[in-house]
Formats: sequence, structure tokens, C-alpha cells
Amino acid sequence: MVSATSDVPWPHLRHLAREATHLAYAPYSHVLVGAAGITTEGTFVVGSNIENASYGLTLCAECSLVSDLVRQGGGRLRALAVVAGDGEPLAPCGRCRQVLYEHAGPALEIDQGDGRATLTLGDLLPHAFGPDDLPTRSTP
Ligand code: THU
Repeated sequence: MVSATSDVPWPHLRHLAREATHLAYAPYSHVLVGAAGITTEGTFVVGSNIENASYGLTLCAECSLVSDLVRQGGGRLRALAVVAGDGEPLAPCGRCRQVLYEHAGPALEIDQGDGRATLTLGDLLPHAFGPDDLPTRSTP
């Protein structure tokens, strides 16, 4: 069980994220992105961005990571590292913040680099709309 932030293997997550940049398919932007996460149960998940000639159909690395999560049986994301090809942290885009929220909630810790305090998904996506809103807001 990954509970405290000290339970999170941050250097390994950064390593996996950097490795994932080598699998990115980014012939248009040349921005290689790798993402690596760990679930509360200790399962590692990874993703890389996958661009498309129809630019708007590009899949971000975090979306690819969520696909890996579900493919591996699901779970709750506990911690995440996202890096660009230079190995430095890259902020998840707005769409990815929402996609991640579904599988993590506001407590997800997001790496800001060695020696820097993490941010939470709640910091990046305050007052989020999420699965809990649906039953209370649907019209019968
Ligand atoms: N990208 C990601 O993979 N994740 C983000 O959170 C931001 C952007 C990718 C999409 C595109 O392939 C490239 O970075 C440039 O936008």
C-alpha cells in the first residue's frame, strides 16, 4: 500500500517517465512526453504521447497512462511524474487534469522535480467536476 509521500518511489517514477519519452510518437510537435504513475496498490503505469496528422486527435502521455491503468485492471492513481524529452517536469494540460481526476481524485501527488515540493491534482484542478457530481445533478 502506498500511503505517505515517503512511500512513493519518486526517482523510479522519474526514471520510468524519462524512459517513456523514448516511446513517444511526436513527429509534428517534436515534444516528447513520458508519464509514469503508481497506484495506491503499488502498480506502476506508464504512457507516452501519440500524435496524429489530424492534430486535434493527439493523445497526451497522461491519457496513454490512464489507458495502461485500465488495461492493467484499474485502481486509484497515487502519484505521477510527467516529463518532456529534456527529462524535466511538464505540467499536465487541462484535459489531462480532468482525465486523471476520474482515476485519482484531488489527492494525486504530482512530481515537480527533485528537491521541489509536489503539487496535488486538487492544486492543479480546484473545484473539479467529477463522478460524485453525476448522481446528485442528474434530472430524473
Ligand atoms: N502533451 C502531453 O503529452 N501531455 C500534456 O499534458 C501536455 C501536452 C503532448 C501533446 C503533444 O503531442 C505535445 O505534447 C505538444 O503539445
